[in-house]
Amino acid sequence: MNAHASAPKATVSSLMLRLKEHTRQLHAEAESHPIQRAMAQGRLPLESYVSYLECLWPVHRALDAGLAALAETDDRAESILSPEQYQSAYLRDDLRHFGREKTDAPAVPAVVELLSDISAARVDRPIALLGFHYVTLGSTNGGRFIAKPLRRAFGLEKAGVSYFDPWGEDQPRIWGAFKHAMDAARFSADETDTILAAAESMFRGITRISESLRPVDAC
Ligand code: HEM
Repeated sequence: MNAHASAPKATVSSLMLRLKEHTRQLHAEAESHPIQRAMAQGRLPLESYVSYLECLWPVHRALDAGLAALAETDDRAESILSPEQYQSAYLRDDLRHFGREKTDAPAVPAVVELLSDISAARVDRPIALLGFHYVTLGSTNGGRFIAKPLRRAFGLEKAGVSYFDPWGEDQPRIWGAFKHAMDAARFSADETDTILAAAESMFRGITRISESLRPVDAC
């Protein structure tokens, strides 16, 4: 008998590794979307860039409110979340920089769908919010590099790109602390599945937002 045939399959216990693995293909799709590529190459028109930020603004506002509420009731969330991770403040600052802070209802279906996912999660399975958050916080890994062509293209310094590059050289430390705390927290199998599914929804939602900007270019 082949000894390897009966060996138990290796299981991945790290939630962060599972998140990365589970969303690898979705990341590849998000990253290769024409809007993302244009951003990374400094070719996106300023109006489209600002529209993208406007689309994300209500999403992050809802997500941050949900995360703050979760941290008050769930010790694991409290240990994972830290003030600098809340990304709506960076978006608000960038939108202010462009004179475009908006508070009215979003028009783009992709945004409406994400908002509905987030509010359903808050009611039914709040732990899912950590899965949504993983995606947007994780996007700062590429964001800090994308910020460079954005700065160049639009003649910006910090203001206007703080959502993409909120922490400068501190990004690896802040992302590392999040990863460490996520892996240190204990989640049941059901909760883990919920977090993985939420990460998937957020990736799809952001890709749909990118998609909606192509013909419409406005939120
Ligand atoms: C041109 C667009 C993009 C580029 C160039 C890019 C690039 C990167 C890079 C270099 C990393 C670090 C990979 C590693 O350490 O193994 C990363 C991680 C990540 N990115 Fe992106 N990215 C882009 C778009 C996005 C978008 C749109 C999202 C969200 C919808 C996203 C979400 C993430 C996440 C969640 C991670 C963390 C993966 C993990 O370590 O678990 N990225 N990205």
